[in-house]
Amino acid sequence: MRRILITSALPYANGSIHLGHLVEYIQTDIWSRYQKMNGHEVFYVCADDTHGTPIMIKAQNEGITPKQLIANVHKEHAQDFADFYVNFDNFYTTDSKENQLYSEEIFKSLDRNKKISTKEIEQYFDEDKQMFLPDRFIKGECPKCNVKDQYGDSCEACGATYSPTDLVNPYSALSGTTPIKKKTKHFFFNLSECEQFLKDWTTSGTLQFEAENKIQEWFKSGLQDWDITRDKPYFGFLIPGETDKYFYVWLDAPIGYMASFKNLIDQKGNINFDDFWSPDSSTELYHFIGKDILYFHALFWPATLNFAGFRKPTKIFAHGFLTVNGEKMSKSRGTFITARSFLNNINEPEFLRYYFASKLNDSMSDIDLNLDDLMSKVNSDLVGKLVNIPSRTFGFIHKLFNGKIKSIDQLASDSKYSQLVIKSIDLKSEILDLYESRLYSQLVRKVFTLVEEVNELISDEQPWSLAKDLEQNKVQLHNILTTSAIVFRNSIIYLSPILPNLSKEVASLFNETDFNSFNQIKDNINKINQYKHLYQRLDKDNLVKLIEDNKIMENKNNAKEDLDTGNHISIDDFIKIDLRVAEVLEANHVKGADKLLQVTLNVGELGKKNVFAGIKSKYNPDSLIGKKVSYVANLAPRKMKFGVSEGMILAASDSNDGPFILLADDGAQAGMKIK
Ligand code: 2FM
Ligand code: ZN
Repeated sequence: MRRILITSALPYANGSIHLGHLVEYIQTDIWSRYQKMNGHEVFYVCADDTHGTPIMIKAQNEGITPKQLIANVHKEHAQDFADFYVNFDNFYTTDSKENQLYSEEIFKSLDRNKKISTKEIEQYFDEDKQMFLPDRFIKGECPKCNVKDQYGDSCEACGATYSPTDLVNPYSALSGTTPIKKKTKHFFFNLSECEQFLKDWTTSGTLQFEAENKIQEWFKSGLQDWDITRDKPYFGFLIPGETDKYFYVWLDAPIGYMASFKNLIDQKGNINFDDFWSPDSSTELYHFIGKDILYFHALFWPATLNFAGFRKPTKIFAHGFLTVNGEKMSKSRGTFITARSFLNNINEPEFLRYYFASKLNDSMSDIDLNLDDLMSKVNSDLVGKLVNIPSRTFGFIHKLFNGKIKSIDQLASDSKYSQLVIKSIDLKSEILDLYESRLYSQLVRKVFTLVEEVNELISDEQPWSLAKDLEQNKVQLHNILTTSAIVFRNSIIYLSPILPNLSKEVASLFNETDFNSFNQIKDNINKINQYKHLYQRLDKDNLVKLIEDNKIMENKNNAKEDLDTGNHISIDDFIKIDLRVAEVLEANHVKGADKLLQVTLNVGELGKKNVFAGIKSKYNPDSLIGKKVSYVANLAPRKMKFGVSEGMILAASDSNDGPFILLADDGAQAGMKIK
C-alpha cells in the first residue's frame, strides 16, 4: 500500500469558483479517487488562500472585516466543491493557527540556515491611503508602448514586463493620487543561493518535461532573491519579531497544504505528521497546479521546504488553462462561467467532469470547452451509449428472468459474449495505468470502446425482437442481457473516479452500496434491481441560458463596481461638510430679488448668520420664523448684490416642484451637528 498526500492549488478567497478552477479540482479529484479505489492510503487536502491586499481591499469595500469575508467565501467554495463531487479529505483555510505556526517555524528555520536576509528597498507609497502599493495597485503608462492605465508589473497592450518604478506617470489604483517613493526594510529568502539545489531537484524527474524546459529558461536569467515581506496594513501573519511587517501571501499559501493536512490528522487522530513531512519520509506528495504558478511550486516551494528541514514534493503536476469556445474566458462574452451557474443551468455536474476527463492528459497544454461539443459528447456518449445499456436491457432482465443473469461459465467460452466479458476484465491493468499517468482522455476512449461494443451487440441482436418469441430465443436473449449487465457494471467501475455519483446509483442497481475498489471488477453478478432513470439529455436551451446568466451576472458586477469606484465618496469626504440645525430668527423679502428671501439664523455655538435663500416661491417670510432648518455652515461666504450670504439652507426640489426646506424633528437644538 502506498501512502499518498495530494493537493490542488488553494483558491483565492476573493472570488467565486469558475470552470477554469474546476479543470484542476476535477483532474485532481479523479486522481485521488483512483488512488483510493486502488486501495492506497490517500489524503486529498486543500484550503482557501485567504491573505493579501486584494482580499483586504475587497473586505473594506464591502464594509466587513477580512475574516468575515473569508468565512463567507469559504462557505460558498465548500458548497461548490461538494456539489461537483470534489471530495477533499479536508478543505481548510490559510488563516489558521496551524498555518501561522508552520509559517513562523519555517521562517525561523530558514533564518537559522542563513537563507533569510534583510534589505532596505524603495517602493511606491500611497500617502492618501497610507500604504505601500503592491504592483497590481499601481497603474500608469507602459514604458515601452506608452499605452495608458497599465498595471505596475506588465502591459496588457504590448506584453512587456517591468517594475512599477518604470511606469510613466504612475498613479495609485486605490486613491488615484500620485504615489511617492519610500524606503522600507524587507526580508528576503535567498533563492539565489539555492540554485544548485534547485537545478538538481527540478531535473530529477519531479516535473513534466515541458515544465523542466521552462525552468531551465528561468535558470538562464538567474534566480533573484525573493521578497517575502509586505508592510502594514496587510491581512496576513506578522513576521516574528516585527510589529508592522507581514509574510507575503505566497509565503504562507503553500504552507497551507501542510496546515490543512495537520488539521485533518488532528481530527482523525491516528496519522503521524512526520511520516508525511519529514525529510526522510517514504510517503508520496503530489501538487496539482496550473502552469501559471509553476515558479512558486517548482522553485520557491521546494527550496523553502528543503532549507527549512522538510521533505520535498514527489512530483508537481501542472495543467494548462481552460479556453471556452476556442477563446480566453471572457466576462463580457459570458464565458467566464461560474461553478454555481453551471449547476443552476445544467443541473448535472458529472457532465462537466466527464467532458474535462475526455480532454485531459498529462501535459501543460490548454484545454478547450466547446459548448456544442459538450452537448454532443454528453448526449451521444453518456446518455446515448452508457446509460442506454441498462435502459435497453434491465427491463427484460426483470420481466423475463426475474432479475437474474447467468454466470460467465454458462456462456460458451468461445462465444462473443464471454469474450466481451473477459475483455472488460482484461482491460483493468491498462486502464489503471492510464489513470496513474493522468491520461484520462485515452482512458475514457478505452472504456467507451467497451461500451460501444455492448451497444453494437444490443443493436445487432435486438433483445426487444427476441423477447417476442421467448420459447425460441431464451438462451440467446439471456446471453445478451448477461453480457450487457456485466460489461456495463465493469465500465461503470472503471469510470467511478470520473462519475462518482452515477457510480453510486449504478451500484445500487446491482444491490451494492458502492463501487469503491477496482477489485470489484468481476465476471459475475447476482441479482439486478429495477432500472431507474440515470441521466437526462442536455438541451441547447440550457447552454444558451448558461451563457446569458454569466453575462447578466457580469453586468450586475459592473454596475456594482461603478458605484464602488466612481460614485461613492468616503465618510471622510462627507464629514468635511459642517451641517447644522439652525433656527430662523428673522425672514424678509429682498427688494429687487424675485427668488430670494433674506434669513437670519441662530446657529448655536456658531452664532447668528445671514443667508440669502432661493425659497421665495414656496414660503412667505413670517411662516418661517421659529423653524429649525438644515444648514451648511462651512460653505465659503458669497458676496451678492444684496449683501453677503454665509452658508446655505438645504431644500429639496426636482424639475417640477420645490424647493421644500428640510426641517429637524422636535428636540433638535440650534447649532446641533447633522451627521
Ligand atoms: O494562484 C492562485 O490562485 C493561488 N491562490 C494558488 C495558491 S496555491 C498554494 F501555493 F497555496
Ligand atoms: Zn506596453
